[in-house]
Amino acid sequence: MSIHTKIGITPHGGQLINRVATTAEKDEFLAQKDHLPRVQLDERATSDLVMIAIGGFSPLKGFMEQDDYEKVVDDMRLMNGTVWSVPITLSVSEEVAEPLKEGNWIRLDDPTGKFIGVLELTQKYHYNKAHEAQNVYLTTEDKHPGVKVVYEQGSVNLAGPIWLLERENHPFFPKYQIDPAQSRKMFAEKGWKTIVGFQTRNPIHRAHEYIQKCALETVDGLFLHPLVGATKSDDVPADVRMRCYEIMIDHYFPQDRVILAINPSAMRYAGPREAIFHALIRKNYGCTHFIVGRDHAGVGDYYGTYDAQYIFDQFESSELGIMPMKFEHAFYCKRTDQMATTKTSPSTPEERVHLSGTKVREMLRRGELPPPQFSRPEVAAELIKAMQ
Ligand code: ADX
Repeated sequence: MSIHTKIGITPHGGQLINRVATTAEKDEFLAQKDHLPRVQLDERATSDLVMIAIGGFSPLKGFMEQDDYEKVVDDMRLMNGTVWSVPITLSVSEEVAEPLKEGNWIRLDDPTGKFIGVLELTQKYHYNKAHEAQNVYLTTEDKHPGVKVVYEQGSVNLAGPIWLLERENHPFFPKYQIDPAQSRKMFAEKGWKTIVGFQTRNPIHRAHEYIQKCALETVDGLFLHPLVGATKSDDVPADVRMRCYEIMIDHYFPQDRVILAINPSAMRYAGPREAIFHALIRKNYGCTHFIVGRDHAGVGDYYGTYDAQYIFDQFESSELGIMPMKFEHAFYCKRTDQMATTKTSPSTPEERVHLSGTKVREMLRRGELPPPQFSRPEVAAELIKAMQ
């Protein structure tokens, strides 16, 4: 089967899911709001609820039941065989789970206590945290930020289909809140047949720009899709990053070949498995290609530099339905005076401009611009301003 159809690439699982309540459903839920058992979501579960509802996690219609959960953890597939690499679960404590009955409608509140969704509870089950950590994150160390979240969350998963009461505008980036149905429409309107998705949780540096532009040489458009859900506390905050992305597009990209949109998901730092997850999300947004560079979604030294690329070889391209564009570690090559990788540069290691994230942060904190071979000066200036 071709991955292209008249309305663009087929969503994962065949159909774009929409679980935003209709007006009638919303009225029905609101009428019962004081009588439903309540569960308060954390930031990640709130993001997951939104992603399910807007179709970003198609074909999921809700939080995973036990058989899907276990199959995902063990085999990276849902029970029906569809590829899925990261568990999407709603975990609560024993005390919260105890009074909830299967068949109940549950009122889902966001971290501020606002009623935002409903879960039709079809199942509650215990699960093995260490097993999830080992299989999904490839480590059981709680120093790993994704594993830490698993260990700290409740020990019972609540499962079943969800509804989001209403798709509200993003409080800070309404202009960039472009949901899958809308991005698909925008790609079609622009006449783009091939679109490369770019995941990031960092301000764009020269290596990012280089791999984006290499990809743009061969496809119709770039979907710059920074993650703005929960990240580690030492990652650059989303509002600062968004300003940096705007600066990049304004100064360094042809405006008509890039769409900037926010990805509401939370970061898991699950390296290889998250690369697959990130690709499937972008497929749902309508991308045909997805960039996977060095240590994609990695943290510390838990994953090999290219493990997030090798994992794609475990699947048939037809079952993924989105093409990874794999890039080697990019750097500035002083010998040829340009961005490159070892595939295109004759340089010795001494002739390459490499800066660690820690070193760059130190420079920015001191108000010093990192070399232009590492970061565009306008972006660095914005980061310095944000740090002070
Ligand atoms: S991530 O956690 O979202 O993957 P980051 O925002 O740093 O982190 O990376 C975004 C994308 O750019 C990922 O695909 C990553 O592999 C890639 N990337 C980051 N730095 C480089 C580099 N120097 N060379 C090649 N690819 C890179």
